[in-house]
Amino acid sequence: MLAISLIAGSFAAATAVGAESPTYREPWRPQVHFTPASTWMNDPNGMVYYEGEYHLFYQNNPFGDRWGHMSWAHAVSRDLVRWEHLPLALAEENGVMIFSGSAVVDWKNTSGFGLDGKPPLVAIYTGHHTSKPLQNQHIAFSNDKGRTWTKYTGNPVLDLGEADFRDPKVFWHEPTQKWVMAVSWPMHRKVRFYGSADLKSWKHLSDFGPAGSIVGIWECPDLVPVAVEGNLDATHWVLVVNVGSGAPAGGSGTQYFVGEFDGTTFVPDARSLPASKPAMAPEGRTVVVGDFEGGSYSGWTATGDAFGAAPAAGSIGTQQAVDGFQGKGLVNTFRNGDASTGTLTSPEFQIDRKHLSFLVGGGNKPETLAVNLRVGGAVVRTATGADAERLSWRSWDVSEFQGKAARLEIVDNATGGWGHLNADQFVLSDTPASNAQEGALWADYGSDFYAGVTWSDVPARDRRTLWIGWMSNWTYANDVPTSPWRSAMSIPRVLRLRDTPNGWRLLQKPIHEIQRQLDSPDRLHRSSVEDANAWLSPRRFPGGVVDLEMTMDHLSPTGSMTLECRHGTNAVTKLIVDFTRRELRLDRTASGRSDFSRTFAAVHRAPLRFFGEELTLRVLLDTSSIEVFAQGGETVMTDLILPPTKEVSFALSLEVPQRSCRITSLTVGPLKPAPVKMSGIRPKTP
Ligand code: FRU
Repeated sequence: MLAISLIAGSFAAATAVGAESPTYREPWRPQVHFTPASTWMNDPNGMVYYEGEYHLFYQNNPFGDRWGHMSWAHAVSRDLVRWEHLPLALAEENGVMIFSGSAVVDWKNTSGFGLDGKPPLVAIYTGHHTSKPLQNQHIAFSNDKGRTWTKYTGNPVLDLGEADFRDPKVFWHEPTQKWVMAVSWPMHRKVRFYGSADLKSWKHLSDFGPAGSIVGIWECPDLVPVAVEGNLDATHWVLVVNVGSGAPAGGSGTQYFVGEFDGTTFVPDARSLPASKPAMAPEGRTVVVGDFEGGSYSGWTATGDAFGAAPAAGSIGTQQAVDGFQGKGLVNTFRNGDASTGTLTSPEFQIDRKHLSFLVGGGNKPETLAVNLRVGGAVVRTATGADAERLSWRSWDVSEFQGKAARLEIVDNATGGWGHLNADQFVLSDTPASNAQEGALWADYGSDFYAGVTWSDVPARDRRTLWIGWMSNWTYANDVPTSPWRSAMSIPRVLRLRDTPNGWRLLQKPIHEIQRQLDSPDRLHRSSVEDANAWLSPRRFPGGVVDLEMTMDHLSPTGSMTLECRHGTNAVTKLIVDFTRRELRLDRTASGRSDFSRTFAAVHRAPLRFFGEELTLRVLLDTSSIEVFAQGGETVMTDLILPPTKEVSFALSLEVPQRSCRITSLTVGPLKPAPVKMSGIRPKTP
């Protein structure tokens, strides 16, 4: 089946990047997930439902396959599965890039942008100025179902004169009869709320934060009422805050808070907030390898100009506040700003403890900013910063190198924004150091779900809160080796809340519409895991796009179960249900290509709550992604994978002390590619 049909418009003009034309048959091209035909994509923007169409705008560089020249590209769908690409909606213009934001139907024409008695669509987005450090909020409107847009002449509509102030999400608050905007203040780790009668003039209502995860900058907020599972008339407010780094799988991720909103202030429900833990210094018998006290590098040797003559005493020059280091001195490579480079190497020392801990802050650039441990000349451990000046603990288990000679090196080969590292307090010890635990709730524990926000104006009769996220991670997004497009969206998901002993938790389920793509699924009822494996493992799925759903009972209190997704003979992505640790692990260390990033090949972990006797798992595999929804969507993990072959097969195995764990039902079937329409033309290379 041809997954593409050209309706109108010029396809040639759609291929500004390279000479390749998109076929939707390229290696790793998702078949049931949204991708731009060609070029770069990041955050989903302006999602709104109007007259039978779900709109999806997205952060797009129409001229290239990397981030830059940001505009809003546009697609529509009637079922959130089959998408039609439309022309670029809002283009970067006059030195103002179109950053993330939202769109609403202005039903009451409060803005006055309506035409002939029809409500306008109004987009609210961040204008990112390319010639000065300024981000402010702008609006634009459309009178033709989002096909063409007019930027408001009174822009900006909200301006603090700040470099970082972005990603407005607007909704109509019926009880107080006004528009409310949630907008992030990234460096402050705050969401600011504003109110408006007409979408043009905005009044500050309140601020929320810092709270939860504050290692990374705060971006792309959303504030939305979400219905309670089993009682759809009851709702609570969910405040979504995407964080640029420090998420459980590393890099960017999506946290949330559950609480109440009265039209002015968001108050989180104290019962639902996970407990936080204080930081722990390394303990037991400790050996200090470097603490940079006493005004000298004491035996560490520097090359380049990033280290100056002696350790720093805190922040340098225009640098933001640096804290979290110990004593008076630290390594800080913000000499001459980010431009300086070099390497600082420790004297040789012997590894005679189990753990090596240290404090690190600064830029998140694993390729060019690193704390490396070298044993026998080879780098055996490496760490980078988290795009935050604050230093936090990192601990390596170095027991396998006991008795060996080693050196530490602090490398700064980065010169652009965040091109510096802070480091301090290198200590060998019996027990590792740990950071204060932030007590955050995470929507997704995989590496690849970011900038998740919800659709506006979904009809009340539909009773769904729907969202979608960008299926990538800022750590490596620009380097994922797909062409001529880069990045996909997650499967659209339905949100609900569940009352648990620990408070409210977000549930996510793939939209039911995706099941229309299911091609004659097979079902197995009541079986042992061994028999289920014998039933499942001979099946081959040539397209690599599969929906698998499984329910189990008689769970084991200890041991584990593994579902392997095999691509060819060597590549395997493992999903491990660990009954002992009560966690779900997604292992993509051998899933295929990973050489484009030092952090891609990894095992990601998520807490898994067992309640009653049952376990439910839903796995959605596309050609380059895996999404896992466990326990009715209470634990969710999304990971990109880049397998060597399309065809996939599965294997199920159980490692438990006694014969336990029964499969109550197992359904598996291939998903047909979702057809894509091209009705849009894209601009030519500038
Ligand atoms: C999040 C983000 C937003 C910003 C956009 C720019 O991924 O950094 O904060 O508006 O991307 O493309």
